[in-house]
Formats: sequence, structure tokens, C-alpha cells
Amino acid sequence: MIVAGVMSGTSADGIDVALLEFSDPQPSPQALVPPNKARSSRLRKATSLTGEPSFKFLGHAELPYPADVRRLVLASMNSPRASVADLARLNFLLGDLYAEAVLSAQKKLKLKAELVGCHGQTLYHQGRAATFLGRQLAVTWQVGDGSRMAVRLGVPVVSDFRPADMAAGGKGAPLVPFLDYLLYRDPKIGRVMLNIGGIANVTALPPGATLDQVIAFDTGPGNMVIDALTEQLFGEACDRDGKIAASGRALDDVVRRFLGESYFRQKPPKTAGREEFGREFAREFLHACNLWGKEHEIPVEKKDVVATATAFTARSIREALRLYVMKKGSFSELIASGGGTKNPTLMNGLRSGVEEFGLTLRSSDEFGIPSGAKEAVAFAALAYETWNRRPSNVPSATGAARPVVLGKICHP
Ligand SMILES: Nc1ncnc2c1ncn2[C@@H]1O[C@H](COP(=O)(O)OP(=O)(O)O)[C@@H](O)[C@H]1O
Ligand SMILES: [Mg+2]
Repeated sequence: MIVAGVMSGTSADGIDVALLEFSDPQPSPQALVPPNKARSSRLRKATSLTGEPSFKFLGHAELPYPADVRRLVLASMNSPRASVADLARLNFLLGDLYAEAVLSAQKKLKLKAELVGCHGQTLYHQGRAATFLGRQLAVTWQVGDGSRMAVRLGVPVVSDFRPADMAAGGKGAPLVPFLDYLLYRDPKIGRVMLNIGGIANVTALPPGATLDQVIAFDTGPGNMVIDALTEQLFGEACDRDGKIAASGRALDDVVRRFLGESYFRQKPPKTAGREEFGREFAREFLHACNLWGKEHEIPVEKKDVVATATAFTARSIREALRLYVMKKGSFSELIASGGGTKNPTLMNGLRSGVEEFGLTLRSSDEFGIPSGAKEAVAFAALAYETWNRRPSNVPSATGAARPVVLGKICHP
């Protein structure tokens, strides 16, 4: 069965589509295969939680959001108020754009998906319960209507993956650890998978990890703060190839001050989003950089702010590993994916930061999954599990009370 995974993350840069071929329409729980047998080949075999999905990565495609869509998505995420009519329209519009992204990936790869898994666009995520109208509620909302996609594509679409985990008491995130556990667990090698999207998250698998030993959480910002400040100061969507940061000077005091934020002291499991590191955070960050300049009577240039945000991001990931991962087992590899891997200044900061932990920085490309496609691959795998009525949340990562089948299925 060919399955497409569709991902659009908190960066709101666009839509990633990955196509996978699953070779076991009737997986048998008895036929377990050690996952590392197939590690070197592009055909990835993996032992699932209750079955044995075995898939081959067929290819991927990326489609940027049109600029006005990106603006509306970002405005909707950051806004305390939004027009209900516009949100309803955005829900259908994104369904259409996701369907078009799948069509264009199919055309590029000359393949046709028989099932689609679509994460949707998160407009709001609050993993921790808070009081609302007298009740304790943790909530999440991903838009991009599944029925629009199913009808347009002529195949079933699984979407809205997160609420099932939250209904079972979880934070609804992270969900990618399911894929990490399938692909990267190893009897001897301890691995940490790091995805640097808008938010950065890690999945740590100690050697020989069982499902209840998976450690996974959001470390904090990935590209989100860098993107916001680059946009504000340079009018560019991102610091392409990390050039601005490389030409600036990081203000160490400011980095240290923001590393003191309460999010970084919270123990995992924990999730973050624009609610924590969005526009408001970027505004405070910029203010602190300017203030530092005034206090020291040294002019702070715009490029220094981007350099500081980049250093802060790398340090926050390093600190998360130091505080919440390295003591939990012996780890030797850090496998990076996500758009942040294309920023060499960020990656150099990270590499030098984690060297002393004995971690070697590697890319998910080396394991047969292009770094930009990993999350889309994950949602294809999650959809496949749902289609086969198998649970795919990882309770130790989300905090859910039990494994549950994720998502809602829309038929064409
Ligand atoms: N060439 C590049 N140089 C610097 N940053 C890049 C580059 N390409 C992508 N990025 C960063 O990656 C982000 C997108 O990463 P992605 O993994 O798609 O995140 P998300 O899952 O949040 O959408 C962009 O917003 C940008 O910050
Ligand atoms: Mg993206």
C-alpha cells in the first residue's frame, strides 16, 4: 500500500509530502524482525508496537505556502482574537492546498497514494490542562479539512491525530517518537533524534530501549525565534544558510537570561509552540538585546540580534540534553532533521555544544530519510497504523494513560 504523509509545521513555511510503500497489508504480530537488520538499506523494516509495518521511502516533495496564506496562518496562530468566518475558510482552504500538494508530489514521483495521513496546521496547542469555564482542559486544534482532501484525492485520509491522545490524558504531542522508535532503536547504540522545525524536539532511545523507556519532549524553539527576528529586522522569512547569524556577534548575557525561562526548567514530558516562543517572546528578546547595548554603551546591530537568537536556540537544545537526557542512559549519536539542519551557524553551535557529551551529530539523510521529510514520513506511518486499527501514540512521550488509535478517517 502506498501511503502519503503530509506535514505543515509551526514554521508555517509550507507543506511537506512524503510517499512510502508499506509491504504488509496484513501485518502479523508474531513475525517480529529486529529493526537494525535493515538499517543500512533504503528498505526500512521496523518492528511496530503490535504488528510489523515494513516500509520503503519512495520520495518527497515540498510546497511553500503562498505568501498570503502564510501570513493568515501566522496571524491566526498568534492572535488572541480571530474571525470565526476566516478560520472556517482557512480550514477548507488548507484542505484544498494539502490535496494539491499530494497531487503535485504524486506527479513529481509518478506514483499514486492509496491512503493519506495529514497532520494539518496547528493553530493552537495547549498541552497542559488549565481551568476553562470551571473545567480543567488541555486543548489542541489542527486545521485542514480531511473530507476536502479525501474527495479531491479519491482515497481515504486520516487527519486530526492529536485529540485521541489527549482524550486519554496525554499532551497530544510529540507523536513522531512512534517513527523514531520503529527506525532508530538499537540494542547497543543509544540515539537521540532531534527535529528542528519551528519548535525543536527530541526523542531519546537508550540502548535496547523498550517503549516505556522512550524519552521525548520539545526542547523549546527551533527556527521560530530566529525566523521571527529575521523577518522583523531584515524582512526575510528566514536567515538563509545562517549567513546573518554568522556575520553577527552573540550577546552571551542575553542568551543566559533567556535560558532562565521557566519552560527550560520544566521536566519532560512537555510541549511548546507559538504560545511560548511566538511573537511576544521575540519582542521581549529583541528588547533585551537593545537594552544590553544601552547598558554597555555598545551599539547592537541587527545581525547581532539574529546571532544571539541562533546561539540561544543551540544552547537551549544543548541544555535540554544535559538536564533531561544524558543522565538517562548512554547515548552516542544525535540524529538531526528538520529545516534547521539547513542553517550551518545553528548546526555548528549545536555540534560544538554537544561534543563534550560524547555525541556525534549525524543527519537523518544518512539513515535513508531526507531531513526535510522526516515528519511527513511519520504521519504516513501513523496513518497506516490507524488504518490497521493499531495504536501509535507513545504514552511515555505524551503522558497518555494508555495507547490509543489516533486520528479520524475521512472517506472519499
Ligand atoms: N536554507 C536554509 N537556511 C536557514 N534556515 C532554513 C533553510 N531552509 C529552511 N530553514 C528553516 O527551516 C524552517 C522550516 O523547517 P521545517 O522543518 O519545515 O519546520 P516546521 O515543521 O515547523 O514547518 C524555516 O522556517 C527556516 O527557518
Ligand atoms: Mg515546514
